[in-house]
Amino acid sequence: MTKKLFIRTYGCQMNVYDSARMADVLGPLGYAAVETPEAADMVIVNTCHIREHASEKTFSELGRLKQIKQDKSGEYIIAVAGCVAQAEGEEILARAPYVDIVLGPQTYHRLPEMVARAERGAAQNRLRNEVGAGRKVAGLGILDTDFPVEAKFDFLPAPTGAPGVTAFLSIQEGCDKFCTFCVVPYTRGAEYSRSVAQIVTEAEQLVALGVREVTLLGQNVNAYHGDGPDGTAWTLAQLAYRLAEIPGLERIRYTTSHPRDMDDALIAAHGDLPQLMPFLHLPVQSGSDRILQAMNRQHTADHYRRIIDKLRTARPDLCLSTDLIVGFPGESDADFQATLQLVRDVTFPAAFSFKYSARPGTPAATMAGQVEEAVKEARLAELNAVLQTQLTDFNRALVGKTLPVLFEKAGRHAGQMVGRSPYLQPVHVQGAADLIGQVRLVEIDQDHSFSLSGRLVAGPVPDVPPAAMRMTA
Ligand code: SAH
Ligand code: SF4
Ligand code: F3S
Repeated sequence: MTKKLFIRTYGCQMNVYDSARMADVLGPLGYAAVETPEAADMVIVNTCHIREHASEKTFSELGRLKQIKQDKSGEYIIAVAGCVAQAEGEEILARAPYVDIVLGPQTYHRLPEMVARAERGAAQNRLRNEVGAGRKVAGLGILDTDFPVEAKFDFLPAPTGAPGVTAFLSIQEGCDKFCTFCVVPYTRGAEYSRSVAQIVTEAEQLVALGVREVTLLGQNVNAYHGDGPDGTAWTLAQLAYRLAEIPGLERIRYTTSHPRDMDDALIAAHGDLPQLMPFLHLPVQSGSDRILQAMNRQHTADHYRRIIDKLRTARPDLCLSTDLIVGFPGESDADFQATLQLVRDVTFPAAFSFKYSARPGTPAATMAGQVEEAVKEARLAELNAVLQTQLTDFNRALVGKTLPVLFEKAGRHAGQMVGRSPYLQPVHVQGAADLIGQVRLVEIDQDHSFSLSGRLVAGPVPDVPPAAMRMTA
């Protein structure tokens, strides 16, 4: 009999990847995915600790699951995974005693043993229910938040299922940068890079399942330094050239990069490899050197600008997205103006902007000069207005251009297909289902708030876009 699994995923793309891998790990135990927590026998909440708001979602979700567990008279396994589990494992078990399993991001290869124990607990509840001994929702309280010496990647099965046209592939995990606002070095642990051989194998497996685009993931993906086939540590640039040799892999992206690790070889790869998409997420956080220093970012605003210049020289159609924090402790109006200036100078057609959120245990949480909520709100609104204009201008400028689009699925309307531009905007055209998995040229005729539409045009997709397709001079 198949057992039913529901996974709720919060947080970053790595959590999305981890959730897919947890499903792969549990497949051999007979678990298949279902669409709702009510329909499941087991539920995993994969959590994010990055900001207070993200973290709070864990406990409200657990409250809802408690009710389901009660309705099912305890015959229900609740697991909490991810970064809140890592940071607050004990607290979760204390506050939510109906939880059966708490596991960190580095131990999910051990899920089968934990689930086997939890299944015995659920079976005992079933027996109690059968003899009319009443409901028992208490969980088993299994906690595994080690940073084990063995790497989970060495124990994971091959990806299964139907990943679609585009898939994530974790190549690097953890972080040694210790930005003073950030929990990631504590929740994900020290930097670790998978071997080139393991990554190439997984990419080939994905391509065999129909994937045409991989997004290489890492908290610090461009700090990648995995074992290469020649016994030396390979860089992300070297890995990108190797992956570009895989037949059928049309597009390669990577996220998230740190400006410190944006080396010349990787910048050159953007000029050389048509598979490397000309859209890069490069968080800058602030435009003020004083604040960047207090954040321990290890780069200045000028250093960031120089990297952008080099990237645009190597690949003139390259566009950027970024992460920005407003209201970091000590941020003055002048510091904030420096951030606005940098945003205006670089231009970001996409960006994630956040109010600084104090995270327990991080150095910035106890720094002097915490900024008032109202000031953070005002700065965020001002920043977002500038970013919104840049997004609108960018999309508008695409009208009339011809872009290569990788088609992913049918649209909502009859005869409509949807793909993605190099810049990740959804692009709608009228076309047939055999477009799925193909890269085709589309002349853009309309921009909408979050998407574009256009018509297919004949012709081969050029490796390097001609000037008419370029977004920047
Ligand atoms: N290196 C990872 C970081 C993930 S966190 C990556 O770069 O993807 C993603 C973004 O969340 C960070 O770039 C930062 O802008 C934001 N962030 C992290 N901690 C934060 C905090 N305490 N308050 C507000 N935003 C934060
Ligand atoms: Fe966090 Fe900084 Fe590491 Fe990114 S580089 S994960 S922001 S500590
Ligand atoms: Fe959140 Fe952990 Fe990702 S804190 S952003 S899920 S690395």
